[in-house]
Amino acid sequence: MSEYKAYEVVEISDKKYQGGVVTKNVDDLPPGEVLVEVHYSSLNYKDALSANGNKGVTRHFPHVPGIDAVGTVLAAEGTDFSEGQAVLITGYDLGMNTAGGFGQLIRVPVSWVAKLPAGMDPATSMRLGTAGLTAGLCVDTLLKNGLEIDQGEVLVTGATGGVGIIAVSILAKLGFQVTASTGKPEAEGILKAMGASEILDRNEFSNSSPKPLLSERWAAAVDVVGGDTLFNVIKGLKYGGSVAACGLVQSPMFQASVLPFILRGVNLLGVDSVELPLIQKERIWKKLANEWKIETLDQVCSEIRLEQLEDSLATVLSGAAVGRFILNLRS
Ligand SMILES: NC(=O)c1ccc[n+]([C@@H]2O[C@H](COP(=O)([O-])OP(=O)(O)OC[C@H]3O[C@@H](n4cnc5c(N)ncnc54)[C@H](OP(=O)(O)O)[C@@H]3O)[C@@H](O)[C@H]2O)c1
Repeated sequence: MSEYKAYEVVEISDKKYQGGVVTKNVDDLPPGEVLVEVHYSSLNYKDALSANGNKGVTRHFPHVPGIDAVGTVLAAEGTDFSEGQAVLITGYDLGMNTAGGFGQLIRVPVSWVAKLPAGMDPATSMRLGTAGLTAGLCVDTLLKNGLEIDQGEVLVTGATGGVGIIAVSILAKLGFQVTASTGKPEAEGILKAMGASEILDRNEFSNSSPKPLLSERWAAAVDVVGGDTLFNVIKGLKYGGSVAACGLVQSPMFQASVLPFILRGVNLLGVDSVELPLIQKERIWKKLANEWKIETLDQVCSEIRLEQLEDSLATVLSGAAVGRFILNLRS
């Protein structure tokens, strides 16, 4: 296989970008020890930013986005991987400035490549994708900081998005009482089916308020929104509570005061699944394949082909998506 199909984004004029399906050659790929035939990728918020020319994500175009991929090894000379082995790549520079999973072939450094965990099929790994890994890491971070079921409600913001809906599902599976904050009241049914016990309008969190503290409600929270929402979540944490902060869909900036930290001993825990050492990624993937396995995941996933990427990326960028898009690259 020397020629392959990919969704390539080009800069058509100053600050205008357009994506389309093109035929590329294996020689177009960057150097790396492992050549992988990609079977599935998935759509993440960062892919939508890359495909729209966000230079904070992708500096140079033409570019093939796709920050995650699952597939089989075609060549991996000098490594422990063998031809035909199922592998999973998420994060690092994949899809940012390295040609990503929106192409049928990728070539990457061996240090980025994880084995597909036993008990997980390739399509499921991309139904989860980077969003699932990140949700798992948020839950893991909260548990490591002492979160226990009898402490009370856990809030998840951006709950219908990829990270949010998977965080809701894992927390509910573990027995937590989960409250979902969303801008989509029509998604109440699906959020409850994934395990949320209460649904709140995200407008309750999105505006700055002069109040130094809010009444103590949340034992913990997973926040994908950032901005004023994150500070309002912090202000509503119970004494000693923690928020795992991983996203910025409202804003990367937030204005806060030290009061919740020094009067209630709350914790702001940063979560990054991109540069996380491979061994830690594999530990979370193993949990996602076993004790955190989500039986209902396919109910919130749509499978698309390369030709449908443009529309789906626009849906993700607008915040209108519910759940996950998985990209099938098999011809
Ligand atoms: N730190 C990491 O390693 C890491 C890894 C993956 C993702 N992330 C970040 O996590 C965030 C979520 O990623 P994702 O893949 O889950 O994205 P996504 O699928 O696009 O979901 C984001 C959700 O946020 C909500 N939302 C959108 N615009 C909003 C706004 N202006 N104000 C408040 N809520 C808004 C929407 O849910 P509702 O309608 O339900 O409110 C939307 O579905 C992104 O910022 C992404 O960059 C970080």
